[in-house]
Amino acid sequence: KKRIVSGVQPTGSIHLGNYLGAIKNWVSLQDKYETLFFIVDLHAITLPYEVQQLSKATRDTAALYLACGVDTSKASVFVQSHVRAHVELMWLLSSAAPIGWLNRMIQFKEKSRKAGDENVGVALLTYPVLMASDILLYQSDLVPVGEDQKQHLELTRELAERVNHLYGGRKWKKLGGRGGSLFKVPEPLIPPAGARVMSLTDGLSKMSKSATSDQSRINLLDSKDAIANKIKRCKTDSFPGLEFDNADRPECNNLLSVYQIITNRTKEEVAQECQHMNWGTFKTVLTDALIDHLNPIQARYEEITSDAGYLDQVLAEGASKAADIADVTLSNVYQAMGFLKR
Ligand code: AMP
Ligand code: TRP
Repeated sequence: KKRIVSGVQPTGSIHLGNYLGAIKNWVSLQDKYETLFFIVDLHAITLPYEVQQLSKATRDTAALYLACGVDTSKASVFVQSHVRAHVELMWLLSSAAPIGWLNRMIQFKEKSRKAGDENVGVALLTYPVLMASDILLYQSDLVPVGEDQKQHLELTRELAERVNHLYGGRKWKKLGGRGGSLFKVPEPLIPPAGARVMSLTDGLSKMSKSATSDQSRINLLDSKDAIANKIKRCKTDSFPGLEFDNADRPECNNLLSVYQIITNRTKEEVAQECQHMNWGTFKTVLTDALIDHLNPIQARYEEITSDAGYLDQVLAEGASKAADIADVTLSNVYQAMGFLKR
């Protein structure tokens, strides 16, 4: 079986972008592939964060994975910091990761510009190296993520090739290793629809956890009233009817796409159903569809979080399975890089 890994940061609330861009797709992949899904708590400290909230946010995010349909009889679910190999491999990889590559990352540029140089820790720069470590440790074939992670995936691929070249093959064999590649070079898996869900208040910027206004996103745990209110107040336009793919109507395209995915229909069906609708009618239809889709997820979430022992057990089992795989890769890399065996 091919192997798939992915993760989400435990910061703030998980929103519709995380769900449609990533988590929903994980669920459809777990039957066919061997899957490992983690909560990337180590990534969450790369910007100022709430110390008192981190552990709760980590558990809540894990609970949401399960509530969204991640099935622990098929997938391993664990917390990144519980598998020490992630940080260890990151250090080894960082010696081979050119600063120039990291400086070029769009997310680094955006986030560091916002925070200002004096307030940015080096971990924000090396963030993609940790992400590469998350992926390469498991010899992953595919990584299902939203569009915004494409560049990080590309860096992961280049870093894997570089390390394979620098330390793999014959050189590794001379050191007593198996030879060949140290890492499999992974491919991104970006969904055809939902890869970039946009803000409710600005159809040109993506829905994000860090946006200051909560009106800009639908969180998976939003109440019915909150959802209705956010959709009621979301940005629209004054064109007649509704349509996909009109560059002057980014909000319209975004909301139709959301509607399409959560009702599990084709673009053509939705285009036809909505072409003559006015915004008022569509907003009611969309609100109902969102509530219908999120209701069962929220109910499962309540169930899962009411049993603390259950979640702890899932995370412990997940971490132990993950560590077994990760440790093999890690010790190969130590060997290939010439370290004294302990
Ligand atoms: P993050 O919130 O940065 O931890 O992102 C977790 C996952 O959600 C990644 O796979 C992202 O690509 C995806 N994601 C985040 N925001 C969006 C969005 N607005 N649209 C689609 N996918 C997203
Ligand atoms: N950087 C990713 C994001 O913000 C999260 C992430 C960390 C990730 N490690 C990963 C995603 C490994 C996929 C695989 O969305």
